Amino acid sequence: MSLDLAASAEAPACADDGVWLTCIACGETFAPFTDVRYTCDDCDGLLEVRYADLPTFAEFGAGADSDGPDRGVWRYREALPFDVGVTLPEGDTPLHRVDRLEADVGVDALRVKHEGMNPTGSFKDRGMTVGVRVAEELGVGRLACASTGNTSAALAAYGGRADLQTLVLLPSGKVAAGKIAQASLHGARILEVDGNFDSCLDIVQDLAARGEAYLLNSLNPFRLEGQKTIGFEILEEFHADYDTYPDRIVLPVGNAGNTAALYKAFRELVQSGAIDEADVPKLTGVQAEGAAPMVEAIEEGNDEVRRWEEVETRATAIRIGNPVNAPKALPGIRNTGGTAVAVSDEEITDAQRDLAHEGVGVEPASAASIAGLKKLRREGVVDDDEQVVCLTTGHLLKDPDAAYEAGSEPEPVPNDTDDVLAHLAE
Ligand code: F0G
Repeated sequence: MSLDLAASAEAPACADDGVWLTCIACGETFAPFTDVRYTCDDCDGLLEVRYADLPTFAEFGAGADSDGPDRGVWRYREALPFDVGVTLPEGDTPLHRVDRLEADVGVDALRVKHEGMNPTGSFKDRGMTVGVRVAEELGVGRLACASTGNTSAALAAYGGRADLQTLVLLPSGKVAAGKIAQASLHGARILEVDGNFDSCLDIVQDLAARGEAYLLNSLNPFRLEGQKTIGFEILEEFHADYDTYPDRIVLPVGNAGNTAALYKAFRELVQSGAIDEADVPKLTGVQAEGAAPMVEAIEEGNDEVRRWEEVETRATAIRIGNPVNAPKALPGIRNTGGTAVAVSDEEITDAQRDLAHEGVGVEPASAASIAGLKKLRREGVVDDDEQVVCLTTGHLLKDPDAAYEAGSEPEPVPNDTDDVLAHLAE
């Protein structure tokens, strides 16, 4: 394993309080909070947040006072650009035991980190608490995102809490009902675009470039800062229970923002000396067969991901053909010794049922992580002695239609106890 740890810890002149932005492609550095920018001025590469001081586990949660939450995302304030954000609060999600599934899959340990337990029901809240705080700092007027649903729900809620205008662009007819309901009630202006997620993101990037809105998709590097706390939490919690770190983390991939965020968390922990390089889990991405450009790039050994114009899957959250964070995420998968795998919609629905029968309710995209792990076990890529954490990214109620289709039909019965008993005996 060889992590990309080349980042200098020396603060450049443009740093603000030990925080700055670095282009991952050319290394150019920028002040973090003076101008709005999403990519590098010079080469258009992706930007990453850097810190002069990286904390160790011992410092996490230290120095908390009664004014700020000392749980969840902001417990890791030492690794974030601010001490507290626009918070609901988020993070601190359960790391479920799933004993039957663990035995079924046949691994030494299987835990499920259920990010659907965040305030708006997905991991996006971790990114928004930081991203909307940065928007306040920059003094922008309108926040915007393209979304397959969850980002729009989180943006609407956190934007509403900060009393900022929110605009969301959704692919028409392809967003689950719960997510639209959230975005709508939390006060976002919702535009339904006659195109897929990738075209929505093209438009939002244009709007942002024209200064019409502050972009809060995962292209915004501050979003990923919040999301990297998933990695901190998993390693801390897993270590507390097993006295070791997981061998592998399996997660669904759309734009690959989360994959990039977890990789950054691991690099920061290694750089700060909190963990050894050998402790870093293998990042393993899962996509739906109908939307699998990252899997294609990993399988073919390509450095660049080919944009898929036509995408389709029941897991609408990851119905994405152009994973914009691929330049950050591909090295994350490769350098940690991980892999990527595509699963069918049927495998996703089966995995959704498996989890639900253990009491863990997730939306289809989330179940892709379990479906991917099962496939990699069948193929012998994952060994039976591995300790694995699967990330489930969104709650079951996000997509009630998918849950209804995957579950059993309600049975109509007469309004009478004897008839009910007779029906049960049938
Ligand atoms: N799982 C769920 C439930 C999601 O909503 C998303 C992304 C992903 C996984 C993929 O995460 O993009 O970081 O690789 N949803 C975005 C949205 C695109 O608009 O809600 P990623």
